Amino acid sequence: MKSDFGVNLRHIAIIMDGNGRWARKRGLPRIKGHSAAEKSIHDAVEVCGELGVEYLTLYAFSTENWSRPKAEVSFIMKLLSRFIKGNIDELDRKNVKLRTTGRLGDIPDGPRQDLELAMERTSGNTGLNLILALSYGGRAELRDAFVKIADNIAASSDITEEMISAAMYNSDVPDPDVIIRTSGEQRLSNFLLWQSAYSELVFTPILWPDFHAEQLRNALEEYRTRKRRFGGLE
Ligand code: FPP
Repeated sequence: MKSDFGVNLRHIAIIMDGNGRWARKRGLPRIKGHSAAEKSIHDAVEVCGELGVEYLTLYAFSTENWSRPKAEVSFIMKLLSRFIKGNIDELDRKNVKLRTTGRLGDIPDGPRQDLELAMERTSGNTGLNLILALSYGGRAELRDAFVKIADNIAASSDITEEMISAAMYNSDVPDPDVIIRTSGEQRLSNFLLWQSAYSELVFTPILWPDFHAEQLRNALEEYRTRKRRFGGLE
């Protein structure tokens, strides 16, 4: 299905990287970079709305991020609550459905309850699905899927790729058409390992807090130039 963008663009996934470097460049503590990330998230939701994109997945906190200093982790969790409380009315008004992927049970009670309330409130919305990847790891997701499958099969030869896709955290969500990573790093860092098999990858040197609507549109223009063959011929 073509979106308003003219090519298939149902699902955009973003690795929001470079908050710490953005702050360091300004002589600020790392957490100021995370605070500055909010405007970029806001812009990404806006652009997705304009283009009729159905799913936007943001890598907000990985399974590996728990090993960061306690104060930084606790700040990000507080920021998550602040983001939800500060944006839920606007998200709801824009018909956005808030969802998550990852091990939500790992998230501290306060932000988890804020998330759960926001998800419940927006569950009937039919616009953009905004999916926050929280305590998310692609390997953890695959491991959890294999456990689910192992409990439901008689013989290992019964396992199919469709069963694995169906056992993923959000099996109704189509694979990302494009995965964008900011800050110049060129790797997936355990993000959507199963779902990214045929995603186009767009890397930009821009740090996440500087990645606003114009920069996102430019990254999507790069995606538009790609020829997607999914392993077949044109
Ligand atoms: C990457 O930058 C960013 C993170 C690991 C955390 C992302 C968190 C947010 C954007 C804020 C919380 C989320 C929401 C939804 C409000 P980095 O710290 O790895 O930057 P660096 O590589 O320059 O050090």
